[in-house]
Amino acid sequence: MASPTDPLGIFDSGVGGLTVVARILEELPAEDVVYFGDTARVPYGIKSPKVIREFSAEITSFLEAHKVKAVVVACNTASSVALEDLRRRYELPLIGVVEAGARQALSVTRTRRIAVIGTSSTVASRAYPRAVERLDPRARTLSRACPLFVPLVEDSIFEGPVAEEAVRHYLGDIVEAGVDTLLLGCTHYPFLAPVIGKVLGSGVTIVDAAEGTAVELRGLLEERNLLNPNLGQGRRRFYFSDRTEAFQRLARRIIPDFMDDMHLVDVESENFRRP
Ligand code: DGL
Repeated sequence: MASPTDPLGIFDSGVGGLTVVARILEELPAEDVVYFGDTARVPYGIKSPKVIREFSAEITSFLEAHKVKAVVVACNTASSVALEDLRRRYELPLIGVVEAGARQALSVTRTRRIAVIGTSSTVASRAYPRAVERLDPRARTLSRACPLFVPLVEDSIFEGPVAEEAVRHYLGDIVEAGVDTLLLGCTHYPFLAPVIGKVLGSGVTIVDAAEGTAVELRGLLEERNLLNPNLGQGRRRFYFSDRTEAFQRLARRIIPDFMDDMHLVDVESENFRRP
């Protein structure tokens, strides 16, 4: 039986999911968090659905072994491709970023024309258009994979001519398509929000899927009487499957003190695969 003082499990293919953790900690500061970032096997966005599902299940088992009370799939690719499969396999409450992102985009659009951007696997899954159209059948979506955005962010290129050219390359025509809302369907894209806003202009509102997720998580915990009643800041533990300079640089920008309670996990070990 889960207890309100049990930690939340949050996972991502790497460090990008820390943008979701940051939002959740703003909304729910008292919660303890166990985060898993699969930095050894990132990126997920170019992998097949089968592999993404396998990796996501392994990580969910790892988090379950840490006695988490709920799991947030912070990775948009895993949310799009693996969430339904995880829900069939685990009894834990599981939430992803897609439904919350879609709901949030619908709450700001006036024209009901929404562009959704993400990794190639997220876009191929059509999870976002399905979620948007399920919530509002009159809404129309335009989806675009932006595969260069993740490497740009991982290389700390958030602005300047290279970033602007990449945004123009993928999104230069979306204003003409009558879109008034752009949903950032990838953990890394919030870093590029200023440059995307500069290229697209003020007629397009940018929505980050992480924002709605934190609010939806609060609702889920309240509904199940699982909100942590403690005052003060919860404990945050960070597990990663590899340690590289680039990932630590990016992680530090999002959660400056993440290294205080950081651990390495070998995803090849039997223990990880069958906790
Ligand atoms: N975390 C992934 C996502 O949100 C981006 C990085 C990757 O491709 O694994 O889709």
